[in-house]
Amino acid sequence: MAPIDPHSYADSSHPLTTHISFSFYFDFPSSTIASSTLLSLSAPHSGPLTLDTRSLSLSAVIDPATAAPIPFTLSPSPDAVLGQSLTLTLSNQSKLLILSKTAPSSSALQWLSPPQTFNKSYPFVFTQCQAIHARSIFPCQDTPAARIKFAAKLNIPRYLSAVMAAKHVDRRDPAAGECGGACDDSIWCAEGRVVEEFVMEQPVPPYLFAFAVGELGFREVGPRTKVYSEAVPAVLDAAAREFAGSEEMIKVGEGLFGPYEWERFDLLVLPPSFPYGGMENPRMTFLTPTVIKGDATGAQVVAHELAHSWTGNLITNKNNDHFWLNEGFTTYAERRIVEVVQGKERAILNIGIGWRGLVEQIERFKDRMEFTKLRTNQQGVDPDDVYSEVPYEKGFQFLWRIERQVGRPAFDEFLKKYIANFKFQSIDTDMFLDFLKANIPGIEDQIDLKLWTDGTGIPPDAMEPASEIYTKIVSLANDFKSGKMPNEDDVAQWGGQEWELYLENLPKSVEASQLAALDERYRLAESKDYEVKVAFLQHAIASRCSSYYNEVEKTLKEVGRMKYLRPLYRALVEGAGKEEEKMFARRVFSEACAGYHPIAKGVVEAIFAKHL
Ligand code: BES
Ligand code: ZN
Repeated sequence: MAPIDPHSYADSSHPLTTHISFSFYFDFPSSTIASSTLLSLSAPHSGPLTLDTRSLSLSAVIDPATAAPIPFTLSPSPDAVLGQSLTLTLSNQSKLLILSKTAPSSSALQWLSPPQTFNKSYPFVFTQCQAIHARSIFPCQDTPAARIKFAAKLNIPRYLSAVMAAKHVDRRDPAAGECGGACDDSIWCAEGRVVEEFVMEQPVPPYLFAFAVGELGFREVGPRTKVYSEAVPAVLDAAAREFAGSEEMIKVGEGLFGPYEWERFDLLVLPPSFPYGGMENPRMTFLTPTVIKGDATGAQVVAHELAHSWTGNLITNKNNDHFWLNEGFTTYAERRIVEVVQGKERAILNIGIGWRGLVEQIERFKDRMEFTKLRTNQQGVDPDDVYSEVPYEKGFQFLWRIERQVGRPAFDEFLKKYIANFKFQSIDTDMFLDFLKANIPGIEDQIDLKLWTDGTGIPPDAMEPASEIYTKIVSLANDFKSGKMPNEDDVAQWGGQEWELYLENLPKSVEASQLAALDERYRLAESKDYEVKVAFLQHAIASRCSSYYNEVEKTLKEVGRMKYLRPLYRALVEGAGKEEEKMFARRVFSEACAGYHPIAKGVVEAIFAKHL
């Protein structure tokens, strides 16, 4: 009896789930889903079997072969990080049917009422299961060590439609006897309901389970790509323009990393409350609408989520201690794609923005150095609380370092081999290191691999990038200290990413008057580009320039992307004094949180708990 994942109750002596059949009945008025979940294990099992759940109500566990009840117990008090364990007692069974219902507060689900949507006519619901939220929708071994195929029937109101990170099979009338006990047949087959059916034929970790239901529309943007969003013609058109280059990126990815194994690469643009920039749900990447602004960023985020098709979705970290295997590799792969489609200069700029982020995050974790390592120990830790750029950027730096050592052609060959070797497996840091040493003999004598994977901070052989534009922007930012502002010629060619890099390199505390002068000239606080706007507003808060607090409040109320919420709330509440800012943060949060995704809400509450 041993856990296999610090974030799961799954046990190493139990067989893992290989297939699930779902029936979901969506009840929008109560913001709940009634489900039947039919789990198939890799082998028949006798004795206890432990699953993960969070805020689920269980009504029955049944042996589908005999319809006999299976005894089960739910741990009495939920663990703040893990939720509740569900222990079943099996007698040589490999299939079990669980009937359950989600809570309105399910951490994976955001339910939007019609007024919270763009068209204001219909409700909307979407999932975010990474890192450990799948368990709040259905009971499962919620660890990426498990890889599961599934089939799903979603019973929804007829005026809505559904998408999933899976293959769409059918949209049809509900049929009696197919709900698996999720609800009564009379409810399942009621007037005005429709069933959307999906299958996922490739085994995926539970955190990649995803759906969205709402008034959806789409545009075709390539042979393998449709872009979906709420059916708003202007949004769909802008999204179609923004993501027109997707097919080219898929081809570049295939050239670099091997065949694209997922058949389709569709995109879903979510409402502004989507808590991430992008989420690599297989066959259907989820995206924040904030990346649609007609510059290089939209394509960069798509390149990142696309790159996960190889690194993350094909090869998956075994648990969150090895999260860098997902995000570090993907950040490296993303920049290789960006380099081909947007040029070397753009890729270097991205590396530079990443470098700044890394330096800053190492500073953020100065009291918790564990989270500046690539391989971490997350026992007892909520992965959402320690989410940072470290696994992305330090992971990127590690791979870039290896590339420099062996040369690009050899590293490219290694990458292709690594992907082909481990595809559809869940691996850990040691498996990567062993494979590296076996395929690049002597690498351990040239690079201190252990320092990279298990050391804290930034290793001495990491590298800040250099290019004419990058270096110029950083030096202009340094000039700000001596009161110098960039002039119109300097910034003539700057887009959002250049401004972001500039702002992120400004000294930590700058004079309020100087900041106001910069804004007067370049209108940064009102930028349509949230990266620029939020980077500016962070400085405004640090300098206690309260004339910008209106803009801060507006931002915190219109978007729910955690990349913006975290630094703004953190800037408001951290540090001594600042009573006014702390009160302001509390008030804005209390007014805005009804519109936040439960994960974002939890993350802001954790920031408050630490600093207030
Ligand atoms: N998989 C991540 C998002 C994620 C990580 C969700 C951990 C939940 C837990 C996704 O691929 C990602 O990294 N998104 C970035 C995009 C960026 C790096 C281009 C984001 O959301 O900012
Ligand atoms: Zn990622």
